[in-house]
Amino acid sequence: MSKGVGLDIGTSMLVTAAFDADDKVVYKMQRDAFYKIVPKSEVNKNSIRRALEIRKFNFIEDTDGFFIVVGEEALETAIERNDVAKRPLYRGVISPKEKNSLPMLKVLISNLIGKGDNTPLVYSVPAKPIDGEFDIIYHTEMMGHYLSGMGYIPQPINESFAIALSELLDDGLTGICLSFGAGMVNCGIIHQGDSLVEFSMTKGGDYIDQAVGNALDISASLVQLEKENGVDLFNPKTKIMEAVSVYYNSVIKYALENISFELEKQKKNLPIFREKVIMIVSGGLTLANGFEDKVSQVLSTINFPIAVSEVRKAASPMTAVAHGCLLASQL
Ligand SMILES: Nc1ncnc2c1ncn2[C@@H]1O[C@H](COP(=O)(O)OP(=O)(O)OP(=O)(O)O)[C@@H](O)[C@H]1O
Ligand SMILES: [Mg+2]
Repeated sequence: MSKGVGLDIGTSMLVTAAFDADDKVVYKMQRDAFYKIVPKSEVNKNSIRRALEIRKFNFIEDTDGFFIVVGEEALETAIERNDVAKRPLYRGVISPKEKNSLPMLKVLISNLIGKGDNTPLVYSVPAKPIDGEFDIIYHTEMMGHYLSGMGYIPQPINESFAIALSELLDDGLTGICLSFGAGMVNCGIIHQGDSLVEFSMTKGGDYIDQAVGNALDISASLVQLEKENGVDLFNPKTKIMEAVSVYYNSVIKYALENISFELEKQKKNLPIFREKVIMIVSGGLTLANGFEDKVSQVLSTINFPIAVSEVRKAASPMTAVAHGCLLASQL
């Protein structure tokens, strides 16, 4: 690990990138979720512990005598109990309302990367939202403080800039980078390796899960799992998928219209692009079939302030940010 680590701290997924002994990049992922089980008695407590151990679930016992299941299994447990798993992050930053947020994030991250030995580590942070009133400073500082304590030399970079480092090296590090995640959409305009404009919007995959759940009266966690089993935006086969496609459309439209508006507003900060510019789309939501075509379709209906040459999906949308962070740790 001493060569450096890239860490993508996402609302729904934590992803790490590091080099193995042969200098090959290896990725690890962990769902950013936890679920608390409150035992009813001492006997009950022992039986729950045994059951969790038999299933080899990742869990911790907190000082109040509760069990906290973490990662992928948290989602599984929540669905079994007809409930929803909790998240340490809300809309891309540490959730201030959830007192377990920081301890949970610590457990999840140390499960993935262990302790460092003055190892350079670059972690991703979202940009300030244009449609929300929270700031990212607390989140950035808390994560930096915690990662230092773990033996790393941490440095934050913006999520869309990490995508540029991962995807635009052969394109003169110039392009529009968009990350469609669970909590947010991040946008960055990168020109010759310099990130000139960065902002985010707070409508992503979680919004789709909740909206579809409300419309069909089913659990948002269930919608999330169905969606992750595969989405075809131009050919939805079930009622749930039809609703998922409708709200996908609404997220893409919302993002592009707001980006368009914001870029007009920030025109003076933009360079004059002599050629058309590549748009990179990344993040879990872009795994849906037809995502780039849907983005191109919506782009053709609005007056986007930058001429786009092509909409290209990141080579690996789930790991692009961690990859970019790892490359940044080597600069
Ligand atoms: N195969 C898939 N098809 C469609 N959607 C998917 C798929 N896999 C994951 N998703 C969805 O993508 C979203 C998560 O994307 P990602 O992991 O990029 O987000 P994040 O980085 O954790 O969040 P954020 O960047 O907003 O903080 C979730 O809504 C998830 O359900
Ligand atoms: Mg993300």
